[in-house]
Amino acid sequence: MALMWHAGEPQDGVLWVEINWKERPVNALSRDTLNELSELIGRIRSDSTITGVVFKSGKSGTFIAGADVTEFQKIRSPDEARQFVLQGQQIFDDLVSLKVPTVALISGACLGGGLEFALACRWRIADDGRKTQLGLPEVMLGIVPGWGGTLRLPNAVGFAEAVPLLLTGRGLNGRQAARKGLVHDAVPNEALDHVARTLLATGGRNVRPRKAGLVGGLIDRLGPLKKLVLWQATRQVLKTTHGHYPAPFEIIDVLRDGIGVSREEHLSHVRDANVRLGQKPVTRELVRLFFLSEAGKKLPESFGLSVDPDTIEHAAVIGAGAMGAGIALLAARRGIWTRLKDIKAEYVARGMKNVRKLISADVKRRRITPLEGTQALDRLSPATDYRGLKQADVIVEAVVEELDVKHQVFTDLAAATGPNCALATNTSSLTVAAVAAGTPEPSRVVGLHFFNPPHQMPLVEVVRGPQSDAKMVAKAAALAARMGKTLVLVGDCAGFLVNRILAPYMNEAGHLVAEVEDPLEIDRAAIEFGMPMGPLALIDLVGLGVSSHVSENMRAAYGERMEPAPIWQALRQSADASKVGGMKVIEKTWFGKRLNPAVLAAVNDLARRSGTKKMILSHEEIIQRLVYPLINEAARCLDERVAERADDVDLAMVFGTGFAPFRGGPLRYADSVGLPKIVQTLDRLAATSPRFAPCERLRRMASAGERFHPADL
Ligand code: NAI
Repeated sequence: MALMWHAGEPQDGVLWVEINWKERPVNALSRDTLNELSELIGRIRSDSTITGVVFKSGKSGTFIAGADVTEFQKIRSPDEARQFVLQGQQIFDDLVSLKVPTVALISGACLGGGLEFALACRWRIADDGRKTQLGLPEVMLGIVPGWGGTLRLPNAVGFAEAVPLLLTGRGLNGRQAARKGLVHDAVPNEALDHVARTLLATGGRNVRPRKAGLVGGLIDRLGPLKKLVLWQATRQVLKTTHGHYPAPFEIIDVLRDGIGVSREEHLSHVRDANVRLGQKPVTRELVRLFFLSEAGKKLPESFGLSVDPDTIEHAAVIGAGAMGAGIALLAARRGIWTRLKDIKAEYVARGMKNVRKLISADVKRRRITPLEGTQALDRLSPATDYRGLKQADVIVEAVVEELDVKHQVFTDLAAATGPNCALATNTSSLTVAAVAAGTPEPSRVVGLHFFNPPHQMPLVEVVRGPQSDAKMVAKAAALAARMGKTLVLVGDCAGFLVNRILAPYMNEAGHLVAEVEDPLEIDRAAIEFGMPMGPLALIDLVGLGVSSHVSENMRAAYGERMEPAPIWQALRQSADASKVGGMKVIEKTWFGKRLNPAVLAAVNDLARRSGTKKMILSHEEIIQRLVYPLINEAARCLDERVAERADDVDLAMVFGTGFAPFRGGPLRYADSVGLPKIVQTLDRLAATSPRFAPCERLRRMASAGERFHPADL
């Protein structure tokens, strides 16, 4: 019985191989499945009756998802790493050198090692379905595509096209792949077999060679032009990653060193690069986050009660504003019949218009086909009342952030829906308990906290209120899982997990604005640390009005330690208070960025009144002030079981806020700094303000020499 490669007898000379790893939900390349492929290649080579081979997946949704990442965790030494890379390189070389033609029929995920396998086949035909994705995302795991991808991708699509694909790990759908020459054609799924037969029967006579274009063709032929492309790519990588990730630089080096050398030499550079990368902490953190996010997608199964996401057929979203429209779009795009309700026809119409805009952007970028766009819109129905909700499995409430309004909505929903319908609130600063308190059936109320913009942000917090029924939580989680989100199960408190942990960080930025000589250094320090943007830029993105509303709620929930920074309070009380909501903290001018003069005036006024002198702080000191209180709050959340595991905190902060992924999340970072140092620093800072005081758990862990995660992770 074959493990993953199932081949019967050849039919009219053609060997049809079904790729189906029966024991696993997806096909992947492990040592064992690679060995089996090697045996199959041996059989093909020695069987003279075989005139052609077709590889096709037996699993819907995956061709081959990539290397089996669990193998990475089994690797104990650099030699073992080198051996694993070499194994795949040799087997794919054997595949390339088969005398008989090979065809990969690609439907579903064809990523990493899976695409390298397909690139080693003579012809690749993809289907044009939504689930089909081709790409080499190794860079996201901190490694270099090891099994020939760095050679064969440039050969297929051209050097200049391959470089950004390798450096970003971006995936392409079937049609995009066909346009770039990565596959030879993209056809409807039903036509795949026919195309394969025709290719083999005609010897591929009809396959059109890729047109490289004048510039592309020159780059492919001339080493100095390739070096120029790589020089530009290096600048781009430095700009986007600030040098925190070694893998893109290794990829660039491998490509540069590969110019004009033999295939063997190139592949040996690839092995060396991966051995080096395998020893870097960054790679370990990225692989760990990959596992956490994969596990996060399966959360509904982790309850005692599991709800199959595919059983969610009907949903509704109440409130067609910024969040509601995005959430409704996600549901409809995943094949769920979705009602979008608001109080007035014009508000629903505005929401529907936004959904249409998002769909046409997706169609334009070829993320979905025009037909899929139309189908998604067909599944979405606008409404201004609660009729027709009896069939709904889950409802997501996304109305204005006012408790009375939410109470009324949930009371109406309890009457309008069946008893098995989960009622989820998307509130960002109230608790589920508070929302549920004013409704007749609090056990049906749970939290589903999407981040803005909901169609782009990968994380959803699934919130258990004190009275939430487990089945309702599982159902709501199933809806979010169906939308493809990474889920984290959290307890009920103001700000839930992510916004609560982020609050002290954001608030500290306000204190720093008033205290440091050059406030622009705050964002610079955060970016250098690895944040996607600085806290002041984030405040400007969210809006000063919303930010200060959130900080008021946090103060109400957590008291003194979350007291809003004086500058925010001063701005609200200033003469221009009515304009504060839309005000930017940092302004862009012709000469660069600067602190908004209105904020500067408030800062100076504050300094005059309090008599404080401006300070010059190093980036390290700024980070200590921003990030250590965030770690302190995370420790509190663990203590109160808002999060069950340190892993949940890390996953939520990386996926919810973009917290420096290469650091593995705030608690991995805390371990790397050492808890005693964090506690000492917080104690020193606490002499200036009690908001820094380390919590009991952090203090206890530091004095017991404990960590949040095991040292040998
Ligand atoms: P929004 O103001 O853009 O939209 C709210 C919509 O709800 C409006 O269209 C309004 O007409 C409608 N509405 C009000 N009362 C209603 C009722 N009784 N029935 C139906 N519709 C009603 O607000 P936004 O930003 O979309 O926020 C919605 C919810 O999502 C809030 O609870 C907010 O805290 C939460 N949230 C917001 C995030 C954000 O960044 N904007 C992020 C995460 C959660």
